[in-house]
Amino acid sequence: MILNQVEELASKAFGELDKVTDAKELEAWRIRYLGRKSTFIQILRSLATLPLEERRSVGARANEIKEAFEAGLAEKKRSLEKQTIYPLGIPSGVAFGKSSLVQLKSLDVTLPGQQVLLGRLHPTTQILDEICEIFSNMGFQVVEGPEVEWEYYNFEALNMPVDHPARDMFATLWVDFKTRAGNRSMLLRTHTSPVQIRVMEKLSPPIRVIAPGRVFRYEATDATHEWMFYQVEGLAVDTNITLADLKGTLFEFARRLFGKDRKCRFRCDYFPFVEPGVEVAIDCLVCQGDGCRLCSNSGWIEILGAGMVHPEVLRRVNIDPEVYSGFAFGMGVERIPILRYGIDDIRLFYSNDLRFLRQF
Ligand code: PHE
Repeated sequence: MILNQVEELASKAFGELDKVTDAKELEAWRIRYLGRKSTFIQILRSLATLPLEERRSVGARANEIKEAFEAGLAEKKRSLEKQTIYPLGIPSGVAFGKSSLVQLKSLDVTLPGQQVLLGRLHPTTQILDEICEIFSNMGFQVVEGPEVEWEYYNFEALNMPVDHPARDMFATLWVDFKTRAGNRSMLLRTHTSPVQIRVMEKLSPPIRVIAPGRVFRYEATDATHEWMFYQVEGLAVDTNITLADLKGTLFEFARRLFGKDRKCRFRCDYFPFVEPGVEVAIDCLVCQGDGCRLCSNSGWIEILGAGMVHPEVLRRVNIDPEVYSGFAFGMGVERIPILRYGIDDIRLFYSNDLRFLRQF
């Protein structure tokens, strides 16, 4: 009986000793298990009253445990003292006891310090921050939407019903997932444009938002293609919004991001969810428009698709196209650092090669 009690006490004590993290706790532990009034020491004392036979067996084991307690205590004390040496300086708020002061005296200040490893932001994150800052200053609100998206938001609501040939523009990664709600399908969004729909369902005009995020395409990768990349979507809906507002906004954006001498080129393009649609290019930063490898000798680099929100799209989200109009744009994000730093392979961004990432 007593033996059981002693064993139980011992395993409890060792468990608690493991969790001790400072000198104060350790002293409390010592008092709890080796203090004069502790249960364990009381038991040891009471052994004297036991019959000789029992006294021998229990006594031997109890003494063994007492020694183990003492050894454990000394060991813990040593390891706690080791922890209180701070080769990088003493963190503020650290209360140190006598023993740690002694240890600190032995600190050799001529030894080289430990290198502090500094993290850094991924180049994509850096550029996203810059883009968001510019548009925030122009009065745009930053919003986000889901990466796994309903087919409805990615296509249908954007004026691309099933079998619309424009779906071919977006090689899609489908999510194999059956819903109880019927045969609605999910996919990895192929662009950030579905966020336009989600925003217009929730907010009423005037709307001015940008939506940064990841998009996915079912495509083979090469120096200029990734299956995952980032886009920033923009949307403005209000009364009297015209193509001139779109041009003004994007032109100002390009100047703030790339410098005030930037030129912008708007050309006709087609996207089912805008009318008219445009493709926007800036003059090549590398050759200043003369023509080089980066711009395939055209002098221009396309950075985004844009246009006036299609009346059909507005109608679907119950915004009256007779009253309101809007512009939308979607830009590729990696293009920008690629241009700025002359990076020749988009795959470098997401292959986690520190030799690349440490340069930013
Ligand atoms: N979502 C289009 C794309 O990924 C870009 C775009 C956005 C075009 C908004 C027009 C308006 O290619």
